[in-house]
Amino acid sequence: TIYRNKLLGGEAPPTTTDPSLLEKQAKEVMPEEGFNYVAGGAGEGSTMEANRLAFRQWKLIPRMMRPALDRDMRVELFGHTYESPLLMAPVGVMSAYHQDKELGVASACADLRVPFIISTAASSSIEEIAEHVGNEAPRWFQLYWPRSESLTASLLKRARASGCKVLVVTLDTFTMAWRPRDLDLGYLPFVLGEGNANGFSDPEFRKMFARAQKDKGNQDGDEEITPDDNVIEASLHWISEAFSGEARRWEDIAILKRHWDGPIVLKGIVSVEDAKLALKHGADGIVVSNHGGRQLDGSIASLEVLPEIVDAVGGKMTVLFDSGVRTGADAMKALCLGAKGVLVGRPVIYGLGIAGKEGAKNVLAGLLADLHQSMGLAGIKLYPRATEGRLTFHNSHK
Ligand code: FNR
Repeated sequence: TIYRNKLLGGEAPPTTTDPSLLEKQAKEVMPEEGFNYVAGGAGEGSTMEANRLAFRQWKLIPRMMRPALDRDMRVELFGHTYESPLLMAPVGVMSAYHQDKELGVASACADLRVPFIISTAASSSIEEIAEHVGNEAPRWFQLYWPRSESLTASLLKRARASGCKVLVVTLDTFTMAWRPRDLDLGYLPFVLGEGNANGFSDPEFRKMFARAQKDKGNQDGDEEITPDDNVIEASLHWISEAFSGEARRWEDIAILKRHWDGPIVLKGIVSVEDAKLALKHGADGIVVSNHGGRQLDGSIASLEVLPEIVDAVGGKMTVLFDSGVRTGADAMKALCLGAKGVLVGRPVIYGLGIAGKEGAKNVLAGLLADLHQSMGLAGIKLYPRATEGRLTFHNSHK
C-alpha cells in the first residue's frame, strides 16, 4: 500500500518510512520533555547503543529461487493465534507524548491486529482502553509489581475482567535507573499525574490512599480523601506502592499465581541463569529485554544473549524479545535467533508523537510490511522456523 500510494500520488504518509529519520522527525514536533523521556536511555546510553550494534553484527544471507509468495506471519502464543509476531511493548504515560495517548495506540494496534500490552503506568485505565477498542482487540497486561498483595490482586482482577490474555511482569524496573535527560530537565511524568490512571481508578489503591491521608491527619470530617483531591501526593503514594523496590524473590512468583490463572511472562531477563530460574518457578514465558537500555546502563544487548537463552530454555517456554528493533530485518533477525515474538517500543511512540493514532499506525503498518517484504527477499515463508532462520545467518564477530 505504501508503494502504491507513492506511485499513484496518494496521500503522503503521516510519518517518514525511514526508520533512521523517525526520531529526528519526532524531535521536531514533540514537547521537549516528552521527547527526551522516550528517546533517553540510562547513564551514558551505552546499552541503548549496544542494542543497535548487536543487530549490525548479525548478517542475513538471503536464499534465491525459493518462492515465498504465500508467506505467513501468523504465530501461536500461549494458545492464541496472532496475525504476526509483532507486539506493542508496554509503554507508560502516553499522554505525555500526544493527546491520543493509549487510546490512539491501542486502536492503531487493534486495526492491525497487533497485541497491545497495557502498561501499569498507563495514562488511560485498563477499562478505558478495553472499552475504546472493544472485545476483539488482542491485549495483554504489564505489571509493575506492587508492594502490597491486595493491590496486586486488584490490578490483576481488573486486567482479567477487561479481557487481557497474558500477564507480563516487568522485573527490571523495581526502581528507576539513573536517566540523565529526565534528571536534567526535572521531568518525571509519573509525579505530574500522567502515568497514574490505573492507580487512581483502583478501588484498593483509593482505600489505601484514604487510609494514609487519615493517618497523616490530612482529613477533615468523614469524607474520604481521593487521589483527585491531591494529585501530587497521590502520585507519590502510587509510585511508592506500585514499584516493589528490591524486595522480590523468585519464590514470590507463587503470589502472582494465586491471583492470575493465565500465562505469566517475565520481562527483563538477560541472563541464561535467570531464564532457567524463570522456568523453574513456573513462568510460561520470558521477554529477553533490557528495557530498551533504560535501566542498567552497561548491561548486555538483548540480542547478544538471545541465542544462548533460546538454547537453554527455548524448547520449554516461550521466549519473546525486545530492545532496539527498528526495521523488519531487525525483527526477522530476532525471530531467526529463536524469539517467538518481538516487542517494539520507541518507534511506535515517535509515530504517536508525530501524528497521534495515525502516526502510530503508520509506523506499525510499515514495520509489518517491511517484515513481510524482508521474509520474501530472504526466501523465508513461515515463522517461527528457527532452524530455517539459522541457516540464513552469519555473525561477523564469531
Ligand atoms: C518503556 N518500557 C516500559 N516497559 C514496561 O514494562 N512498562 C512500562 O511502563 C514501560 N514504559 C516505557 C516508556 C517508554 C517511553 C519507553 C521508551 C519504554 C520499555 C518497553 O516496554 C520496551 O522494553 C522497550 O521500549 C524496548 O526497546 P525499544 O523498542 O524502545 O528499543
